[in-house]
Amino acid sequence: MTALTLSTSSAAALRADAVVVGVAKGTKGPEVAPGAEAVDKAYDGKLAATLETLGASGGEGEVTKLPAPEGVKAPVVVVVGLGEPPADGEAYGTETLRAAAGAAARALSGAKKAVFALPTADAEAAGAIAEGALLGAYAYTAYQQKSNGRGPLAEVALVGAKPRDKAYKTAAERAIALAAEVNRARDLINMPPNDLHPKEFATVVQTAAKEHGLKVEVLDEKALAKGGYGGILGVGKGSANPPRLVKLSYTAAKASKHLAFVGKGITYDSGGISLKPAGHNETMKCDMSGAAAVFAAVVTAAKLGLDVNVTGWLALAENMPSGTATRPGDVLRMYSGKTVEVLNTDAEGRLVLADALTRASEEKPDAIVDVATLTGAMVLALGSRIFGIMANDDEFRGAIHETAAEAGEQSWPMPLPEELRKGMDSSTADIANMGERMGGGLVAGLFLREFVGEGITWAHLDIAGPAFNEGGPFGYTPKGGTGSAVRTLVALAEKAAAGTIL
Ligand code: BES
Ligand code: MN
Ligand code: ZN
Repeated sequence: MTALTLSTSSAAALRADAVVVGVAKGTKGPEVAPGAEAVDKAYDGKLAATLETLGASGGEGEVTKLPAPEGVKAPVVVVVGLGEPPADGEAYGTETLRAAAGAAARALSGAKKAVFALPTADAEAAGAIAEGALLGAYAYTAYQQKSNGRGPLAEVALVGAKPRDKAYKTAAERAIALAAEVNRARDLINMPPNDLHPKEFATVVQTAAKEHGLKVEVLDEKALAKGGYGGILGVGKGSANPPRLVKLSYTAAKASKHLAFVGKGITYDSGGISLKPAGHNETMKCDMSGAAAVFAAVVTAAKLGLDVNVTGWLALAENMPSGTATRPGDVLRMYSGKTVEVLNTDAEGRLVLADALTRASEEKPDAIVDVATLTGAMVLALGSRIFGIMANDDEFRGAIHETAAEAGEQSWPMPLPEELRKGMDSSTADIANMGERMGGGLVAGLFLREFVGEGITWAHLDIAGPAFNEGGPFGYTPKGGTGSAVRTLVALAEKAAAGTIL
């Protein structure tokens, strides 16, 4: 990953390929942002005027590259738009800084070193700039013979931060740990599904567990059969690559709370016998994004040494059609003992999650949060940048919504309407895996709720929209796997450690 350092030098004095400064969209044209003073001075104070001449406005996401003036060591100045300037006496918001740093880092792909001189009012701002730069610099090049100069920016030096101040150091270290894990989740999501089956995914987790001193248990297909995990087995049955349930635990010495994170890990979702039509399966390697997010969040909690116990449950299977696959009409006996009539084999995520939710409930955690690319209906409802939150506790749902916003992730609270439950009534089994088409995302949430242990606080994040970016990159978000929900889960663990939630 991109290296990051805090530097006390002036933006103009550092040797680098480029120096990044900010510009705001003022009422009377572009306004040079704090941090750019030295660079602006080298332009004889004419940076804003030059930008205006070039047609730059300072709008969010705008990137302008200029030849550096005499007196600036780097040959190029990258000016990134920050949008409207904050009100008098206020500082730039963290998400604005993250997105601007990300856009600048993307514009510098292939470069060796860049100096970031963006507005750094406090340690939190420095952390946001660091996070945005490290996330924006991400590139997935593992399967390309030559990175054709598009590899990630190799080194970022932040100026304007205080390297000897503990708060700044902590913020930078947090950003480095968090971005590395978000990027690790992205790598897993982007990995082609012919190379990442449940078994390989489990091996990746085992390797990371060893490195970070985490406890890991992997249930293979034999152990799953012995344990009666009918949901996970039923989904994995059609594939030549058998399923796994992975438990990854981080235990803190001074923890008073225990969080369980449960991730949907369908390494490829063809739909199974209810096969998806062409046009709906090209991106379905992303169907393990929930499991990738859970994995990344547990490792980050460990790296940060948070005072909270976190258990990650990864429900891994490949959903394929074959002579051994589950058929529409089959009844599965789940880990909880409930029976499920499978009416549509493409509604597989809820089946693997159900078993993992029941298993996670046995340990009586203070809360369970599951993360899943669960329904196309949620994408229709909220679009491709916002995840839906459902929960059996309104306060917890609200806390997650707020925490996500602080972490820089867009989400929206969704209901679990009781009247939709009867649509899943089955004439053969206890419940069917499908209900009414309308409100399909909520129906899926209601299904999951049935498998959460009595009295346990639970929330469900449907990340089907934001998990995989099919459009162009923006801010610090690349094309492809985004690492959606990792930052929210980590922020929740931090709050649980601090005792501000649950
Ligand atoms: N993995 C899909 C949901 C999905 C859709 C994820 C788009 C990412 C982008 C899920 O397994 C699925 O196929 N859901 C069905 C459920 C239906 C059959 C009840 C859906 O949403 O169509
Ligand atoms: Mn499906
Ligand atoms: Zn799926």
